[in-house]
Amino acid sequence: MTDEYARVQEAAAFVGARVPTVPEMAIVLGSGLGDFAAHVADAVVLPYETIPGWPRPTVVGHAGKLVVGQVRGRRVAVLSGRAHFYEGHPMANVVFATRVVAMLGVKAILLTNAAGGINTAFPQGVLMVIDDHLNLIGTNPLIGPNEDRFGPRFPDMTEVYSKRLRAVADRAAAKNGLAIAHGIYAGLHGPSYETPAEIRYLRAIGADAVGMSTVPEAIVARHMGMEVLGISCITNMAAGVFDQPLNHSEVMETAQRVRGAFIALLEEIVENA
Ligand code: HPA
Repeated sequence: MTDEYARVQEAAAFVGARVPTVPEMAIVLGSGLGDFAAHVADAVVLPYETIPGWPRPTVVGHAGKLVVGQVRGRRVAVLSGRAHFYEGHPMANVVFATRVVAMLGVKAILLTNAAGGINTAFPQGVLMVIDDHLNLIGTNPLIGPNEDRFGPRFPDMTEVYSKRLRAVADRAAAKNGLAIAHGIYAGLHGPSYETPAEIRYLRAIGADAVGMSTVPEAIVARHMGMEVLGISCITNMAAGVFDQPLNHSEVMETAQRVRGAFIALLEEIVENA
């Protein structure tokens, strides 16, 4: 048994012993979206620091707790706060939460994030269903000896983001009267925002949005056989689209502005997933 397998197993056993049943879906909340955790009924709240082996996020806007309960009658595990590669966490910590929920028996994971808009047709604040990603992080969470009990050495990445769940997201948006976008998410490690030249390059290679999370979690989720859905909140236009500098406050402000619509969409997706 690898040490990592044992570490994930210990955390999953700890969580499993404290929740009534295995959640159907895990939901990772991106920057400024922590509010969704308050919408969970019959909640069992497990602060990350109480779970053995769990890495602690440090970035502003990430609370750091696992909330297990019900949303619209469906059993969910909400991950409020995630570990980013740019914080200095080893990749194993970046993907730890994903592996724990997979080991618990959760079958689907909804990854949300804040992202910069590269596609100039996107209005600021629009929610984008991730159709596919570009892994530009410069590494891969599966590097190292393969743990066969997690998944295969060379996992297929043909359909990282489930067609079925993307269709659920489209129907949920239509039902809520919400215009949503679709696109390709480029995952970079950050933490500096991109240069205008980098954004032109990303546009040329097919990216619609850019962010600093999600890709490692999506790869690991597929490795362990979970169905994945990704939704980006386009909190700002990427560098150079407008003649103005980027900052984290703008990201948080936009996320706050659209959080009502985002929460309503997530609830509708959870109900119909
Ligand atoms: N670039 C990278 N990550 C981001 C951005 C951005 O413009 N906005 C929110 N996350």
